[in-house]
Amino acid sequence: MIAITGASGSVYGIRFLEAILEHYDKVYLTVSENAVLIVRNELGIEFPADNTGLEALLGEGCRRVEMLPPHDLTAPPASGSVWYEGMVVIPCSMGTVGRIASGVSNDLVTRAADVCLKEHRRLILVIRETPLNLVHLRNLTTLAEAGAVILPAAPAFYNSPKTMEDMVAFVVTRTMQQLGLVQTLLPEWERTST
Ligand SMILES: Cc1cc2nc3c(=O)[nH]c(=O)nc-3n(C[C@H](O)[C@H](O)[C@H](O)COP(=O)(O)O)c2cc1C
Repeated sequence: MIAITGASGSVYGIRFLEAILEHYDKVYLTVSENAVLIVRNELGIEFPADNTGLEALLGEGCRRVEMLPPHDLTAPPASGSVWYEGMVVIPCSMGTVGRIASGVSNDLVTRAADVCLKEHRRLILVIRETPLNLVHLRNLTTLAEAGAVILPAAPAFYNSPKTMEDMVAFVVTRTMQQLGLVQTLLPEWERTST
């Protein structure tokens, strides 16, 4: 299950979705209302509200995506009885962090995250905010204690990125590695001779 929420960095969500499609038969996707606005602002993409129009965005891979409305609490990932491997929220806003941390399962994003925590499934939060206030830090600590992986959308520079896409790929590949996926977007770090 992938959720794109209303933090800056919607490109992370889109690139991550593209990158993992070849690894899964089925991917649930939900995009918060605020994220739709930000995807439009940042990427000039009108995110479709349902599967219609996904093909333009994802090509052939769209057949493996099931797009779910963000307020649909009857959707499969809202129930622990439905098996799915886990959830990646990418990018993850501090608003979503706060709601998950306090157990406010009032939409599909927060309910599916709640399900992942209670069922001990992987929950990876690719957070984007700076600076972080004490409320953010406490919420993130709560979530880390509850079993979530907190993965800041913070590209590294040791791999000498040349383009924005290189920097995005860094965050995407680190997220893929948390799912145990083999990534081929970027070479792994190799020590040079000293
Ligand atoms: C252009 C824009 C950029 C934003 N960037 C961030 C961000 O990077 N991180 C964040 O936590 N909130 C950010 N926000 C605020 C969230 O969108 C806002 O808190 C929203 O309620 C989050 O909703 P959601 O978590 O349901 O998607 C941004 C808002 C706008 C309009």
